[in-house]
Amino acid sequence: MLFPEHVKIVEVSPRDGLQNEKILIPTAIKIELIDRLSETGLSVIEATSFVSPKWIPQLADGRDVLMGIHKKPAVKYPVLIPNVQGLEQALAANVKEIAVFCTASEAFSQKNTNCTVLESTQRIEAILLIAKKHGLFVRGYLSCVLGSPYGDEVPFEKTAALAGQLHELGCDEISLGDTIGIGTPLNVTKLIMSVAKNVSIAKIAVHFHDTYGQALANIYAALSLGVTIVDSSVSGIGGCPYAAGATGNVATEDVLYMLQGMHIKTNVNLEKLIQVGRFISNHLKRPSQSKVNLAYEKKSTAPQ
Ligand code: HMG
Ligand code: MG
Repeated sequence: MLFPEHVKIVEVSPRDGLQNEKILIPTAIKIELIDRLSETGLSVIEATSFVSPKWIPQLADGRDVLMGIHKKPAVKYPVLIPNVQGLEQALAANVKEIAVFCTASEAFSQKNTNCTVLESTQRIEAILLIAKKHGLFVRGYLSCVLGSPYGDEVPFEKTAALAGQLHELGCDEISLGDTIGIGTPLNVTKLIMSVAKNVSIAKIAVHFHDTYGQALANIYAALSLGVTIVDSSVSGIGGCPYAAGATGNVATEDVLYMLQGMHIKTNVNLEKLIQVGRFISNHLKRPSQSKVNLAYEKKSTAPQ
């Protein structure tokens, strides 16, 4: 089996990790989280979103967060946006990378974005027309790729067709989101093979929530197919308010530990990342979801 030599980790904790937190987190903590993450060697940190604050109040301070962080030249700080209104805010904040999102699930599309799948692709088309004029890098997320929280069927072919459409519209990268964390390695393999007919494997990212503890196995399956972009969240924080019952993202510490064991380079420092995991877990006043972080706490030594 041929695994990639290098994997790009897309750290989503400041956005996906915090968006579902019920208690408002101070802007200063969000800024400190991003600044600390910036010191770990990560090259992409999804910083916040410019969605409707009525829908996601936790991230209503997106602009202040972006203005407050100490941006490092080697790090990209994309933001998630749902419409042209969000794009305008992103441009005003001098953002260079954005992420758009949609899904093949009609039910999830309605709950998450208050529109049909067709309308959401039309919104994305409008965003891309402007974004490309400004030279922005655009990631396209597809949610519910392995199942929907609302029980409707989400065929792989539909996700693959949407992936192709987003790519043709100008998305530079397509992230496949198992929003409710129900996938297992075999269906992950089938999904990626289906999407890879329309989008080259080099542009496919995987985004696993870890509800059923399958995320690392799923990432392994994706790597074995040549996927080189993996989304994760420090301490395993995260979730979508419109996907009840789903837990956090796979923990970045655990992904790193596995990749190190496979001799796959990431340029990210695990020791430093563990400290960031502690910082945010302490703030959220709950234990880390990262097994590596918990093992480290017990041994007080860095895993080799
Ligand atoms: P809507 O209510 O239909 O929007 O929401 P609207 O266009 O009718 O506007 C209603 C109000 O919202 C107006 O304000 C707008 O100005 C305002 P009012 O006149 O009533 O005072 N508004 C905005 N304000 C700020 N920024 C904006 C914006 N847009 C409208 N960009 C909308 C439609 C799409 C906006 C809404 O449904 C929304 O924001 N949804 C986002 C939900 C969300 O963020 N979900 C989580 C992210 S997706 C995810 O987590 C999955 C992922 O991680 C991958 C995976 O795991 O699968 C990416
Ligand atoms: Mg997510």
